[in-house]
Amino acid sequence: MCGIVGYVGYRDALGVVVDALRRMEYRGYDSAGVAILDGLGGLAVERKAGRLANLEAELVDRGPERYAGSTGMGHTRWATHGAPTDRNAHPHRDRTGRVAVVHNGIIENFAPLRRELEDAGVELGSDTDTEVAVHLVSNAYAAGDTAGDFVASALSVVRRLEGAFTLVFTHADHPGTIVAARRSTPLVIGVGQGEMFLASDVTAFIEHTREAVELGQDQAVVITADSYRVTDFDGVADEVRTRPFTIDWDLAAAEKGGHDYFMLKEIEEQPAGVADTLIGHFANGRIVLDEQRLHDQELREVDKVFVVACGSSYHAGLLAKYAIEHWTRLPVEVELASEFRYRDPVLDRSTLVVAISQSGETADTLEAVRHAKEQKARVLAICNTNGAQIPREADAVLYTRTGPEIGVASTKAFLAQITANYLVGLALAQARGVKYPDEVAREFAELESMPKLVAQVLESAERVREIAREFAHVPTVLFLGRHVGYPVALEGALKLKELAYMHAEGFAAGELKHGPIALIEDGLPVFVIMPSPKGRAVLHSKLLSNIREIQARGARTIVIAEEGDDTVRPFADYLIEIPSAPTLYQPLLSTVPLQIFAAEVAQARGYDVDKPRNLAKSVTVE
Ligand code: F6R
Repeated sequence: MCGIVGYVGYRDALGVVVDALRRMEYRGYDSAGVAILDGLGGLAVERKAGRLANLEAELVDRGPERYAGSTGMGHTRWATHGAPTDRNAHPHRDRTGRVAVVHNGIIENFAPLRRELEDAGVELGSDTDTEVAVHLVSNAYAAGDTAGDFVASALSVVRRLEGAFTLVFTHADHPGTIVAARRSTPLVIGVGQGEMFLASDVTAFIEHTREAVELGQDQAVVITADSYRVTDFDGVADEVRTRPFTIDWDLAAAEKGGHDYFMLKEIEEQPAGVADTLIGHFANGRIVLDEQRLHDQELREVDKVFVVACGSSYHAGLLAKYAIEHWTRLPVEVELASEFRYRDPVLDRSTLVVAISQSGETADTLEAVRHAKEQKARVLAICNTNGAQIPREADAVLYTRTGPEIGVASTKAFLAQITANYLVGLALAQARGVKYPDEVAREFAELESMPKLVAQVLESAERVREIAREFAHVPTVLFLGRHVGYPVALEGALKLKELAYMHAEGFAAGELKHGPIALIEDGLPVFVIMPSPKGRAVLHSKLLSNIREIQARGARTIVIAEEGDDTVRPFADYLIEIPSAPTLYQPLLSTVPLQIFAAEVAQARGYDVDKPRNLAKSVTVE
């Protein structure tokens, strides 16, 4: 949610910043802006509502020579306070036009700060919470204890702010220096040779350097071309700990690789994502989660599991319940992170809270983690982003190793999260002794065979696309499933809603007769996710009855069923076959056609698959 970049070095800052914004645009695309210091006391700012392309066109119109300089910063916005207009776009400047700021997050106490400024005669030019920060820094720089000291002025303001923020400041009097601070939203330093980067996400600078430093909570940093200095908000460096790391994927992972959209590439990367997530988690005949931070003894003490997450990650969490309860006989509750802490859940030392978040930044999930920790529960994060805030605050972490997910709609991270959930289930079963080592080994081997099967599903993508084109302009699609097919139905509906802006709903098929069947009318497309006839035969026959019921009422059925399941053919207007897999693992296969379907419908409707309207990749506000 909002992408931020800062650059000091020897290159043309505008080029570096715009390239970085292009890579981070998935974080928000309501507006984009840049600020470039020319090194001679000039600060050029350009900002524009809408996609980055609008800003780029404006920069061309105005003449890139106006933005010459080797220090700069940029912002791509997902609007929170203030409509997505030019005047609310970042960077914001002070009255003198010499100080600029970009911001990700929400300054919660902006209202009293705004009043304070207005009382002092400052006219604010936007409706954002952000703008107060730049005027306050300007005032602190103009007079008082911190007069003339840019770094001290910036920190004095940061100390006054409440909420979640990454703030990056530049000052025309200090070309070659950028000051930034973070609390609860991400900021990473990219360490180059004679150049330094700051960004919300390493994708911004991966082209230039793979050496990065993750900033911790309530840390500030001052960068120049040759140095970075990390301190606390008081400017003290002594106690401050940072986490340097080397990025282990390359630029290609952050590029489309010949696909029209990142999402299409990411759908194809799913076999690798599942396989990579398993690597290293089975050693010496045992499942290993986070050896350093979560021991068998602690897993043995667990008497209840909560899974907290949002959106697609929540759907992955629903699947965790089926696996963990089945394998361990431990009760599992799955809860939307945004609801969790407000209903006073019963947690204690023996509760394991599994927080699932692709980005590791989602504010609702982060707050759920904090609440769980306050109640002394143990928190295990499942995350796709190395060093993000949620894994930092959790007691232990299991990374889904699927590379950066840039398409806003989650695909490969979803499959990797399901895989990680199964590892948690197996680890709990193993620690509690409810599964013999050879059973655990067999389950792991089944999991290891899944990437090949996911790849087989991808081979039939063209058939799914054909079906999608037929239904591209219908107003409504329903999705039905039972057991593990139910979260898959929810996920299929979410994908279609967010990508194709279509009315789509997922139901537990057994619920149909309790209300939703009233929606069925002639020609309505309904996806049905069939369980394997070899798995739970009773579920299979129940679902067959459900299909008959809806077909009798005129629905057009698009059935996802196991290869060779001939019983279903008479009731499937359209049949999508997937390979046979154990019941619990079938979602790794049945989700894939639904992702392809949603992407194709969105394309047929002329929508940007990677950047659905109103959404952003990581949601750092509650
Ligand atoms: C849907 C989607 C979202 C995210 C949700 C949680 O395709 O991507 O629903 O799953 O915003 O995000 P993370 O996993 O980053 O916490």
